Amino acid sequence: MVNLKGMDILDGAQFTRKELEHILNVAEDMRKRLEKKRSLDLMKGYVLGALFFEPSTRTRLSFETAMHRLGGNVVGFASAKVSSTAKGETLADTIRTVNQYVDVIAMRHPQIGSAKEAAAVATVPVINGGDGAGQHPTQALLDLFTIRSERGQIDGNTIVLCGDLKFGRTVHAGVELYKHYDCKLIFVAPNTLKMPPEITARLRKHGIEIEETTDLEMAMKEADILYMTRIQRERFKDPAEYERLKDSYVLTREMVERINPGLTILHPLPRVNEITTDVDALPGAAYFRQARNGVYVRMALIALVTGRI
Ligand code: NCD
Repeated sequence: MVNLKGMDILDGAQFTRKELEHILNVAEDMRKRLEKKRSLDLMKGYVLGALFFEPSTRTRLSFETAMHRLGGNVVGFASAKVSSTAKGETLADTIRTVNQYVDVIAMRHPQIGSAKEAAAVATVPVINGGDGAGQHPTQALLDLFTIRSERGQIDGNTIVLCGDLKFGRTVHAGVELYKHYDCKLIFVAPNTLKMPPEITARLRKHGIEIEETTDLEMAMKEADILYMTRIQRERFKDPAEYERLKDSYVLTREMVERINPGLTILHPLPRVNEITTDVDALPGAAYFRQARNGVYVRMALIALVTGRI
């Protein structure tokens, strides 16, 4: 039996395949329940602390929506500027405080390792909604859920990850999940934004088939899934370097229709330039459905780590 009660969700690498399957199945169950009812009363009386020290639209609002649809309540902030961080409070003290109020914490913070630091001082479960260029496990889980629901299964797919693989935390977390499945991975990035070599080496050691290239069109030919990502402007020290790289890859409708019309296209969003809006109407453009899936997956995670399911 899989039991996630009390578990912190910090890193894509923490899960077994059994746990992944369980989370996806509970999320699927949440989706079905919401088809019948607008909200449940599973988390009635429980409070989620949503602590966002860094900008967010989907992650924060889908966490909040998830808790509301579970029948629970939410407190929190959407910017470090309105929290006592602005007065010089340490992250540890903010967490120690919020820990007195809530049953589970979801947080996003610009520092790599911050979620782990929070979990070390919290007694309630901490869910990492993104720690700098580090990890973003709940996004990776909803990506996995989306692959299963769009393609029917995860095994057997060739997944192309394209864009900023150096700073993109969603892909850092994603590959730690894909490694449990029979998937081939193709990494497409400018030379200076490649997947960190230690991650690639570790995955290869694990027996995962990985190709690295700068050529998106070639990779698309072989792909079942194309996971586009934004160049992470806020992680660049040199703005000129960002300007040089920001339009490295732009997916257009013409490219999809010419190279691989059956492609499933994912993106964690926000998009800047990397997918033209005429792609949106293609049947394989799944990125807004993907955003919706974030609610089901976060409902599952909240209910599981608090032991309500
Ligand atoms: C991602 C993030 O914040 O890492 N967005 C999200 O959570 N959906 C991707 C990004 O910002 O590029």
